[in-house]
Amino acid sequence: MKLLRIAIPKGRLQNETLLALAAAGYEIPTAADLGTRKLVFVRDGIEWILVKDADVPVYVEHGAADAGVAGLDQILEHECTAYQPVEFPFGRCRLMVIGAPGAPGLTRDSLAKIATKYPRVTRHYLETRQLRAEIVPLAGSVELAAVLNLTSHVVDLVETGETVRVHHLEIQDLVAEISPRLIVGRNAYRTEARRIRELIARIEETCNASAQS
Ligand code: PRP
Repeated sequence: MKLLRIAIPKGRLQNETLLALAAAGYEIPTAADLGTRKLVFVRDGIEWILVKDADVPVYVEHGAADAGVAGLDQILEHECTAYQPVEFPFGRCRLMVIGAPGAPGLTRDSLAKIATKYPRVTRHYLETRQLRAEIVPLAGSVELAAVLNLTSHVVDLVETGETVRVHHLEIQDLVAEISPRLIVGRNAYRTEARRIRELIARIEETCNASAQS
């Protein structure tokens, strides 16, 4: 039987994703496995692949993985059309417009510059509100751009708010509420229907149980 291939995010969502999958009864890669440089682990009929958070929607969209766990931030940024059957209770955060200290709010004729890992989502945010700003794509530690005056603003995730606070930045607006989701490729949903339905049911049950505890 073909292995079901599931993409696990290697970044901020990794630990809680693995805990949720273990709670759903899946034999997941062990801490020792994760300590190696290997990125593919076969356990009990499932091939777990470890990929960057931003790449999970790409693997699933292209059918290189049957399913995966991805934040709505990355799903939106990649315009991923995979099904999103389960929303996880962990890792909830907000995508926010954050200003350097004293930076005015964005306007339709502002000269603002926005650093972000989410250029597509940011462009959409600006267009729908008829705001203007130059977008400066960065790969990480985005808040630093506003601290060091590379840009006047950033669009980035705020979870505890600690990064914003320690850098004396100012939250200005909400772009989107973000949660991690189980995503399932449209093709896998058809061709692997039984195993995908089981995956969804087991994860749903775990999420519901943790919501009640
Ligand atoms: C994320 C995000 C913020 C920070 C927000 O970064 O991009 O920088 O967490 O969390 P907080 O509100 O709890 O402080 P991540 O650690 O994923 O790394 P990155 O900056 O390299 O993307």
